[in-house]
Amino acid sequence: MVKMETAELETDLSLFKYDNLEQLPSRYRDLEVDERTERIEAALAALGDDVVILGHNYQRREVVEHADFVGDSYQLSKRAAEADAEYVIFGGVTFMAESADIITDDDQTVILPSMEASCPMAGMAEALQVDSAWAEITAAAPDADIVPITYMNSYADLKAFCASQGGLVCTSSNAHRAFEWAFDRGDKVLFLPDKHLGENTAHRLGMGGEIATWDPWDPEGKDDDDVAEKDIILWDGYCQVHERFRVDHVEAIREEHPDANVVVHPECRREVVEAADVVGSTATICETIAEADPGETWAIGTEIHLANHLERWHPDVNVLPLCGDACMDCNAMRQIDPNYLAWVLEELVEGRERNVIEVAPEEKELAKLALDRMLEI
Ligand code: 13P
Ligand code: SF4
Repeated sequence: MVKMETAELETDLSLFKYDNLEQLPSRYRDLEVDERTERIEAALAALGDDVVILGHNYQRREVVEHADFVGDSYQLSKRAAEADAEYVIFGGVTFMAESADIITDDDQTVILPSMEASCPMAGMAEALQVDSAWAEITAAAPDADIVPITYMNSYADLKAFCASQGGLVCTSSNAHRAFEWAFDRGDKVLFLPDKHLGENTAHRLGMGGEIATWDPWDPEGKDDDDVAEKDIILWDGYCQVHERFRVDHVEAIREEHPDANVVVHPECRREVVEAADVVGSTATICETIAEADPGETWAIGTEIHLANHLERWHPDVNVLPLCGDACMDCNAMRQIDPNYLAWVLEELVEGRERNVIEVAPEEKELAKLALDRMLEI
């Protein structure tokens, strides 16, 4: 059992919604790789079953290699729900760690090694902003039952808002099931924040002609008649890592490697998804490459760390990043530096909790309802 002492804040940065943001102490900044690895392993051995490390597929190699489980955001939320360790160290971004805190028991603590790992797309739909848009959207379609669905990539207060309005959460692996769940209970869906995942899901359900877009930042970007007429309303958010992929990239790969197959994430634009052979969550992308025959060529349309992991994990498959050197890493995921991992683990060994993610109690119950609804579909 690890005993907690009050940690002294080393910074007063207040950019982030959690006020316990602590930056890496300078003594951890220049650790040599071998020393860092040894220290992480020693801390893990000392902590034993008190700690579990969950790592998203986009984490750096130096983080992934210390994780007890690596997966997509749906798998990680399931693992968090099943975890019985006292501490869940989350290699991922804030919204994932928040979800882990919501799903785990009250006596478990979730630590996000760097509190600066915040997904920009999650910030594109703030609960307050959605709340005021909701008034406008429901007024535009007064006779309709609208069910809000938020992508996992959103903050806990928005998840709570969706539950309060009869909605739920989804990830890229179950968005189609969440839409079906919603249409069993209502007439229209408001999907937030990722318009591309929303559009791709609408097409998967044969509802591509039913889309209205709601751009909260542009007075011209919302059309009340469209909202009244169409069944799927998409918030105008996006992921900059995935928006980068274009049909030209798919064409260029096919020209250079005529035998190439293309697998992309559903956060990519519709036309890129249409040009690909396979579309799916990061877990589906991993399974696709794991099942590929030796010698097959696969171009990967997602965050670059995952493309690099797949190349390393499957040396018999010819794995290529879909847009070559132009493929991006996720700036938010990159914040989880292995030096931060060494620091939070060594602090736990000393009985100090650093960078704890604790969702406000008033949001937790409803956000849990939205997540539980997802885990049940
Ligand atoms: P997955 O749910 O496919 O892991 O994706 C999470 C994510 O953030 C993709 O950008
Ligand atoms: Fe957010 Fe995009 Fe990074 Fe996923 S890849 S965490 S959606 S910024």
